[in-house]
Amino acid sequence: MKIAVIGQGYVGLTIAVFAGDHFEVVGFDNNPKIVDQLNRGISHIEGVEGSTLQNRIKAGRYRASNDGVDIADVDLVVIAVPTPLTSDRKPDLDFIDAACKTVGENIKKPVLIINESTSFPGTLRNFIKPAIEKYSKDAVEHLFAISPERVDPGRGDYNQKNTPRLFAGLTPEASAMTREFYSKFCDHLVEVSSPEVAEAAKLFENTFRQVNIALVNEFAQIAHSLGISVYETLDAANSKPYGFMKFIPSAGVGGHCIPVDPTYLAAVAEEHGAPATFIRRANEVNLEMSRYVVDRVVADNGGSLAGKSVLVVGVAYKPNVADVRETAEEVVID
Ligand SMILES: NC(=O)c1ccc[n+]([C@@H]2O[C@H](COP(=O)([O-])OP(=O)(O)OC[C@H]3O[C@@H](n4cnc5c(N)ncnc54)[C@H](O)[C@@H]3O)[C@@H](O)[C@H]2O)c1
Repeated sequence: MKIAVIGQGYVGLTIAVFAGDHFEVVGFDNNPKIVDQLNRGISHIEGVEGSTLQNRIKAGRYRASNDGVDIADVDLVVIAVPTPLTSDRKPDLDFIDAACKTVGENIKKPVLIINESTSFPGTLRNFIKPAIEKYSKDAVEHLFAISPERVDPGRGDYNQKNTPRLFAGLTPEASAMTREFYSKFCDHLVEVSSPEVAEAAKLFENTFRQVNIALVNEFAQIAHSLGISVYETLDAANSKPYGFMKFIPSAGVGGHCIPVDPTYLAAVAEEHGAPATFIRRANEVNLEMSRYVVDRVVADNGGSLAGKSVLVVGVAYKPNVADVRETAEEVVID
């Protein structure tokens, strides 16, 4: 079986490499620089070794491309493109739409199309399927499924193989084929009753983190005002073996997921007349943390940083990643 993975970033390249053990993979990316680099066996993503990529290329199991013709004969498509926010912080599905255009215009036989990009419930059914059908010149009956990606960049203990994977098809046939595909390189598949449940679960996972990070960030401020160490207090609370999960205060959240995904959930909630109070407030608390960190540094340095050099250590949102998208440190440095 030949597959195409649209988008060769953190999610898409990782999937392309894991799937490459079992399938011939075309890694489609509209950035020619990335395509050129990948075809030379150079990986730009932590966790994907250049040597693995080179082996796949040598074995004829991987090729990057930005030419739609190269995906015309695939049997299965995985979409893994960015889902950012617009400048007024609304869900931006433009990249998904462009990926649908590539698929719709180039694939003329029925295939299974799996979306791995994070988006709000209803995206597969009400956006991706109609978009691909709109861009196809001939009426093609594709199968559609969702399997939200859970990759945690820079992490060694969990990967595609041992991280349980959620999935759901728009039809039973799509679900069955999706299971068959992922079961080749993932040990634990969790099928849910509809694509909307899978889409919502992914957003809720990241919203859970966002809200808890905001809570601990607020608690850091409370602890400071009480003159006690937030770290010692959190360690003390963490000695409870159940009912508590430790989060660590920070200058805010970063990366493509936690600062963005909860806003997708809030947007769809509000569109349906449901409250998203926690999500909105958590976002504000996290956004305000950079200012708070700077105020603390200023206060600890005689009330002014004028004429002083400041060393900022750690710019990405967590250790061992190079991803500085949405980083709170940018605000701190400003
Ligand atoms: N990074 C993570 O840890 C992570 C984890 C889980 C889910 N996700 C989700 O996965 C999706 C992709 O995220 P990512 O971090 O891999 O993004 P990324 O920016 O690392 O990679 C996206 C790639 O898609 C390419 N691209 C953009 N539009 C394209 C198009 N129309 N056709 C072909 N290629 C196109 C870009 O050039 C880029 O290389 C997002 O929805 C994100 O929320 C990300």
